[in-house]
Amino acid sequence: MNKIGIIGNPLSHTLSPDIHNSAIKHFGLDLFFKKWELEKKELKEFFLNAKENNVIGGCVTVPHKENVLKYFDFYDDSVKRIGAANWFKIEDDKIFGFNTDYIGFKKSIPDSKLNNLSQLNCVVFGSGGSAKAVVEALFIKNAQNISIINRTFLKAEEIASKYSSSGITSLNLNSIDSIRHEIKNADLIVNTTSVGMSSGPDPDGNLLKGYELKSNVTGIDLVYSPKKTPFLKNISKFGGQAINGIDMLIYQAQAGFEIITGKNCPFEIMKSALKLN
Ligand code: ATR
Repeated sequence: MNKIGIIGNPLSHTLSPDIHNSAIKHFGLDLFFKKWELEKKELKEFFLNAKENNVIGGCVTVPHKENVLKYFDFYDDSVKRIGAANWFKIEDDKIFGFNTDYIGFKKSIPDSKLNNLSQLNCVVFGSGGSAKAVVEALFIKNAQNISIINRTFLKAEEIASKYSSSGITSLNLNSIDSIRHEIKNADLIVNTTSVGMSSGPDPDGNLLKGYELKSNVTGIDLVYSPKKTPFLKNISKFGGQAINGIDMLIYQAQAGFEIITGKNCPFEIMKSALKLN
């Protein structure tokens, strides 16, 4: 039987099997979804044997979205621009890489903000593969002011420097006064870090703690466990719109599943498979 699956490490909390098994069942496909919990050094062998093992594609999660690139024969333009892939497809002995994270993020921005992003001030916390996809989505949607804030400043600087726009800037997480100013004027704030994630290194952490926010701010936390993170509670406290990472997770899955199978699974089918706390 042909296989699809997820590459990552750890995979104990992944919701991807539930999401994709619901889609496989919905279309009655003869496909098996597997979890591939791999170390970086095991990726080479995985991709060498993938075709022989009837693997036709799959998704890629933390920490391998950048590590997998060297095993692909081709990438699409989004992977080239973002520098990370979250899906691959195997066809005619060739491995193709895709990024659907930026599509998922774009779709999870509410229309009220999406339609006038060029007028809005955006703040992105983090500078990993997810942050790169978020910045790309905001850039594509014509956002003119994006501040990227990261603990490791060099990584934020690297992302900002890829774009020729002078409105895309970087800040160090320690630059409290500058961050206060950015946050106070922000219309859209995105957390791409693992701070606040229940299984992560800092589950009670909140990068907005102590800062004043606009009352009509929208906050999107890519974390979805817990459903309401400390970051999102802070957004709500100021009267803003709080959105967790579930919609982005499903939209990126929907786009990836369609690349591999050619089937567009309804959002609600994928969402109903999730049992969330
Ligand atoms: P992903 O692919 O999901 O983006 P990642 O590449 O591991 O995951 O990136 C995680 C991001 O969360 C990074 O920006 C990281 O900051 P560093 O670049 O300084 O490592 C950020 N991050 C993780 N833990 C953090 C913490 N406790 N405080 C602040 N930022 C944190």
